[in-house]
Amino acid sequence: MPSASRKLLGAYYTPASLVENALGTLPETLRPARVLDLSCGEGVWLGAAGARWPDASLEGLDVDRGALEEAARLVPAARLRLADGLLAPIGSDVDLVLGNPPWGAGRVGNDRRGQESATGFVVRALELLRPGGRMCLLLPAAWLEVAAHRAGRERLLELAAIERLEPLGNVFTGVHAPAALLVARREPDAAARSAQPVWTPMGPVAQATLAGEGSLNPRLSAGDRALLIKLDARAERLAGRVTFILGVVTGRNRAALVDAGGGEPIVSGTDVSAFRIRTPARRLALPLERVQQAARRENYARRKVVYRFIARHPVAAVDEEGRLTLNSANALAVDDPALDEHFVAAALNSSPLRFAHAARHALPRLLRSHLERLPLPAASASARRRIARLAEARGAGATEELDELVMDLFLLTPAERARLRSACRAS
Ligand SMILES: C[S@@+](CC[C@H](N)C(=O)[O-])C[C@H]1O[C@@H](n2cnc3c(N)ncnc32)[C@H](O)[C@@H]1O
Repeated sequence: MPSASRKLLGAYYTPASLVENALGTLPETLRPARVLDLSCGEGVWLGAAGARWPDASLEGLDVDRGALEEAARLVPAARLRLADGLLAPIGSDVDLVLGNPPWGAGRVGNDRRGQESATGFVVRALELLRPGGRMCLLLPAAWLEVAAHRAGRERLLELAAIERLEPLGNVFTGVHAPAALLVARREPDAAARSAQPVWTPMGPVAQATLAGEGSLNPRLSAGDRALLIKLDARAERLAGRVTFILGVVTGRNRAALVDAGGGEPIVSGTDVSAFRIRTPARRLALPLERVQQAARRENYARRKVVYRFIARHPVAAVDEEGRLTLNSANALAVDDPALDEHFVAAALNSSPLRFAHAARHALPRLLRSHLERLPLPAASASARRRIARLAEARGAGATEELDELVMDLFLLTPAERARLRSACRAS
């Protein structure tokens, strides 16, 4: 299939070994009578289900006629239909919905990811399963965590007990698209849903604990989860107290940026390290009004905390010179008189906030929503001032001392401090 149509249909077929492993995670006693794949492609999931449960009735839908013809050859016993898996009438007594739904099918231009088909297929599966019935789906790993899919995850938590969340990494040759396996049981009993132990590679987590994070992050050990809860318990938030200032999008960096002579200095991500901004290597040769996207000039002119956009954890420094920043280095200016840029930079560069960010977000990016969610330590005015002054006076030279002071604010034990430091070294 040409790659454009493959993308449009989200047609990336699952390797047979992965299907075997996925079905192998289901309870051994499972004997599903009605098995359904809402986007069966060439039928690899239905074929494996037929081999495992010879008495099951197998049904498959797909919108691609060619794929269905292949499926008919591979699984002659299956009832196959050329139909939209999200809309076709099916009934609500299915024992097992399995498969690999199209992840980005039908996504056009800037459609938000929440409208992407993976969410639609999870919600549809929930509607079709009988109580006690299961779904076993291969999803984009991002579905478990990114904000755009929150509504789909909430629906899942409302209706199902999640039995397994397994990140699988990149499973399709030649495509960077980390996958995860989701196994969940339609569960009408709310208490059973909350208490459900969810299998993750880091050990089992009660569904209620998992849900408390707002994402379904399967990469946290029980100890790290407890540490995040402790940080949150002593935290304030940045939301509503700062102005976020996005870096300049030039449209064409090659033409708009120069190395020397002319133009205006512009700070890029690589110019920023903890507590330090080096003299920018590049300059903006265009007037600010002519770039593709920029914040207002008066915002760049403010004293502000500049942070790298692409990073595993926050890397921040205060800019006192009102410089422009490129979109690899965004910034925030403090509006709340009780806060201070140097205090915010010290908190962002500290092990607790770095840990919290890396623990919650798999992708190396710092979005505004991530910063707003970070646990800024609650502190008395004098403690805040002390940290701000030290950061201002000695910056990177006082990194460890500042780290200890921020950890003091969270009332962390020596063992917790050691864990945070080692987690930060690893990220
Ligand atoms: C990621 S592939 C997976 C195919 C198969 N389940 C497998 O794992 O090999 C997604 C499939 O979804 C189909 N598809 C896209 N939109 C669909 C829709 N609305 N209803 C049913 N199938 C759809 C595509 O044609 C493609 O075969």
